[in-house]
Amino acid sequence: MFERLEPVVPDPILGLMAAYRADPDPRKVDLGIGVYRDEHGETPVLASVRHAEAELLARQTTKSYVGPAGAAEFNQLLEQLVLGAAHPALTARRVRSLQTPGGCGALRLGAELIRAAAPDSVVHVSTPTWANHTPLLSGSGLKLERYPYYDPAGGGVQFAAMMAALERLPPRAVLLLHASCHNPTGADLSQEEWRELLALVKRRQLLPLIDMAYQGLGEGLEADAFGLRLFCAELPEVLCTVSCSKNFGIYRERTGALQLISESPAAADAAFSQLVRLARTMWSMPPDHGAAIVQAILGEAPLRRQWLGEVDGMRERIQRLRREVVQQLRSACPQRDFGFIGRQQGMFSFLGITTGEVRALREHHHVYMTDDSRMNIAGLHSGNLEYFARAVAQVLAG
Ligand code: LMR
Repeated sequence: MFERLEPVVPDPILGLMAAYRADPDPRKVDLGIGVYRDEHGETPVLASVRHAEAELLARQTTKSYVGPAGAAEFNQLLEQLVLGAAHPALTARRVRSLQTPGGCGALRLGAELIRAAAPDSVVHVSTPTWANHTPLLSGSGLKLERYPYYDPAGGGVQFAAMMAALERLPPRAVLLLHASCHNPTGADLSQEEWRELLALVKRRQLLPLIDMAYQGLGEGLEADAFGLRLFCAELPEVLCTVSCSKNFGIYRERTGALQLISESPAAADAAFSQLVRLARTMWSMPPDHGAAIVQAILGEAPLRRQWLGEVDGMRERIQRLRREVVQQLRSACPQRDFGFIGRQQGMFSFLGITTGEVRALREHHHVYMTDDSRMNIAGLHSGNLEYFARAVAQVLAG
């Protein structure tokens, strides 16, 4: 039977990861997959995570199942981190969470819930959006359409064009938004723009699906949640998909949650029972280890303080790198303005070069970024920054 299957081209991000690993050149620079890297180019286990793991190992007495929704305490602590402890939706008991295998599990589960409720729903995603949003959401059978978002000329958001497109959506259309650190562009909405968008979402009766994968790595844990918190306070229904991969650095532990905000506690309970049913058909029960780490960190004051310091450290390094990249590119390619990189947030920016130039960077200089020129800023450090800027200058010079 399987001999009939055609081979599939790897996903652009995973394909690049494999190509980078296979490149023996010592000068190679990985700006591909979105993992945080330190000054030595490493993705270390955070000290707070190590401490939490040591405690877990010492006190864990069983590996029996936790349950279909995952650990209640993890879900509660993550709700408080994402929404803020005194959020009105929490006080009104309108929030239900289900622990998922990473943010991907949350996205897929959210799509399945939407499909169960309204099979003809269309999800509207930004142009561009994270490469895996499309297969994850459309894999559930939902249709996807695109709205304008990134402005390549200025490196910001084409807010007027975005609003004009969204103004035409029918009621109950699903609107996928990135809470912060937009992947792949790094171009985020301002607080004023979130407020204007909220008015439109209310007017058009849209359902927001807010993907929160980088809380703390843009402007800070609170600022990065501004739009999400506003929407969850003001709207009857919101779906939030949360990943702990980046801000806890536990990528391979596959840790995340789907947070559902419903109109009333009774509606939340009904939708939550559907989530449990749907999760049971996909992974049955979520993996525990990553969630147990997050629960220990968020629940124990000394570990939490240590983690907060580590998140600050990652964010400040990314912000510093953004300034340094702009400076290095300015001196290597004075004819071109890369200042937008300094105004964007989080790990990613488009360098804004052609696919041919991206491939030349890869082939001649062993600098890896996806074909659309998305680069992971955190992959740069003092040992490769100048090399990178010179390589870009050479490629642009033809
Ligand atoms: C990325 O965008 O590179 C990360 O979110 C990793 C992934 O799974 O694509």
